[in-house]
Amino acid sequence: MSEQTPVKRVRTRHFAKAKADGLKITGLTAYDAPSATVFDRAGVDLLLVGDSAANVILGYDSTLPITVDELITMTRSVTRATQRAFVVADMPFGSYEESTEHALQTAVRFMKEAGAHGVKLEGGVRMRKQIRRITEAGIPVLGHIGFTPQSEHNLGGHVIQGRGDAEQQLLDDALAVQEAGAFAVVIEMVPTDVAGRVTRALDIPTISVGGGVECDGQMMVWTDAFGYTTGRSPKFVRKYANLAEQLEQAVGNFINDVHDQSYPSADESY
Ligand code: KIV
Repeated sequence: MSEQTPVKRVRTRHFAKAKADGLKITGLTAYDAPSATVFDRAGVDLLLVGDSAANVILGYDSTLPITVDELITMTRSVTRATQRAFVVADMPFGSYEESTEHALQTAVRFMKEAGAHGVKLEGGVRMRKQIRRITEAGIPVLGHIGFTPQSEHNLGGHVIQGRGDAEQQLLDDALAVQEAGAFAVVIEMVPTDVAGRVTRALDIPTISVGGGVECDGQMMVWTDAFGYTTGRSPKFVRKYANLAEQLEQAVGNFINDVHDQSYPSADESY
């Protein structure tokens, strides 16, 4: 949507219009100001301060341990760094499930303390009341269905969702999220044809994270997409760069230059 629709600040109405016009929405995660500045300048529509930060920034092996306070600090740095992108803060595990009031309190913290433009939470039918409470308070909500990493132990690991009989549950989840007032919904790790049918059944845009080309937009964890994480990435990740390798090489050059005293040169000294 970026190039075809020049806008000052992306708003939820722009996502709705993109779907209506058949323009694809772009999304990336962001966790700090320097990366958010680059993504914003490049024209990404939606930046998600994802709880994936638990894995890719803080070094945990799941998203479960990250806290609201940790994500508020990261969200603040991302909102400060952006001028155009719509910034969504991810509500972490344990910060919204208990009650609608708890969910609203967490969402309000992200809006007031971090300057987020909206929040995301995981779950369809089971989270409809939380989504409704938050949207009724005037806060945009991005839903998240299909594979929901905060429930990975309940789902039996990183397993593709919505296959066979499970398609009906996925559709019910999508419709519940829409009916509760979400402006868009992330569909994670679902077969292309299933995500396509859900996309056509909804008025709100679907954002794919491993949901195939028929969704209304695509999102990736930035460290996966640009090769800043090492190790195996999911099948749906396309690596657009190999930053970890480039950085390692550059650090090696720095070490060599210090050892052979070619750094600092006279020009780099006072
Ligand atoms: O935390 C995250 O990065 C996410 C995306 C994968 C949607 O939830």
